[in-house]
Amino acid sequence: MKNGELWTDNSGASIQAHGGCVIKYGKTWYWYGENKGVDNLPGKNQVPFVGISCYSSPNLRDWQFEGNVLEANKTDSGSPIHTSRVCERPKVIYNPKNKNFALWIHLDNEDYTFARAGVAVSGSPTGPFEFLAVHHANRTDCRDMTVFQDTDGRAYLVHSGDWNKTLYISQLNDDFTGFTGLFTKVLVDQEREAPALLHHNDLYYLVSSGCTGWKPNSMLYAVNTQLLCGARWKLIDNPCSGPGYRQTFGAQSACIFCAGGQPYLLLDHWDPKNLRQSGYSILPIHINGDYMEILWRDCFEGI
Ligand code: GAL
Repeated sequence: MKNGELWTDNSGASIQAHGGCVIKYGKTWYWYGENKGVDNLPGKNQVPFVGISCYSSPNLRDWQFEGNVLEANKTDSGSPIHTSRVCERPKVIYNPKNKNFALWIHLDNEDYTFARAGVAVSGSPTGPFEFLAVHHANRTDCRDMTVFQDTDGRAYLVHSGDWNKTLYISQLNDDFTGFTGLFTKVLVDQEREAPALLHHNDLYYLVSSGCTGWKPNSMLYAVNTQLLCGARWKLIDNPCSGPGYRQTFGAQSACIFCAGGQPYLLLDHWDPKNLRQSGYSILPIHINGDYMEILWRDCFEGI
C-alpha cells in the first residue's frame, strides 16, 4: 500500500473510510470511516453524507468491505444523520460490560454551526449500528473527535470544542454512550483538532493538527503523566520527520492504533476538490521517553 494514495479493497474498489479509526476485535482488524464515495456537491469542498463504512482485515493490508454500518437517512430532512448533514470522524469502541460497540461521530450541518457528538450502538463490529442520541457535551460544541480507553477500562471522548479553540477530554459513562460529567480542557486556546491519543509506558501522548480545514498544517504532540490533569498537557513539538514534515506529509491525523505493541498513526491525505479521491497513510510511531518521532515511509505493508 503506497502511503499518500487512495487504497483499494479486495474487490478493487477504492477504500472509502476517511477520518476513520482502526480497532481489533478477536483476530480481525476493523477500519471504520466516512464513506465519501460520491461526487463533491457542485462548487463545494463537501460531499453529501453517505454513511459510515466498515472494512475488515486479518493483516491490515487486505481489506474487505463490510458495508455501511450506519447509513445516511435519505427521507427525514430533520434527522441528524440526513444525507444533507455532515457526519465526520467516526470512532468505534468495544464495551465489554454490554458486549456491544459504540460509534461516536461529529454531527454537523452544512455550515458547521451545529457541532454536536452523535452516538450509535451495535452488537456486532460489522453493524448495523442503531443511532441513539445527539450530545451537547459539556455544553460546548463537539467537532473533530476520537475515543480513548484508559488502562482502568474507562473510556473518553476527546473532542475539539469552544469553536475549535480548545480540546476536551470527556469521560464516558459505563455504557460508553453518554457522559459522566467529568471532563478536562486541554491545550486551551491552542486551536488544535484531529486529535489522536496513545498510552505508552506510563505516558499519554496526544497528537493533533492545527485548524486549517482540509489544508494540511503542522502536526504537534503533547504528553502528560495524567490524562485528566488538563493544565499539564503541553505541546512539545512536531513529531514528523522526512519530506513534507512541516505539513504532516500533506496529511492530517485520523487515529492511533497498536499492532503487536507497535503504535501506528492513520492519516488522511484530503483532496478537497474531489474528496472521494482522498488518500491514506499508515506510519509507525517511534517513542523514546517523552520523545515522539513519526518518520515518512513510502509504503505500509500491513503486519
Ligand atoms: C477539518 C477537519 C475535517 C473536516 C474539515 C472540513 O479541519 O479536521 O474533519 O471537518 O475540516 O473543512
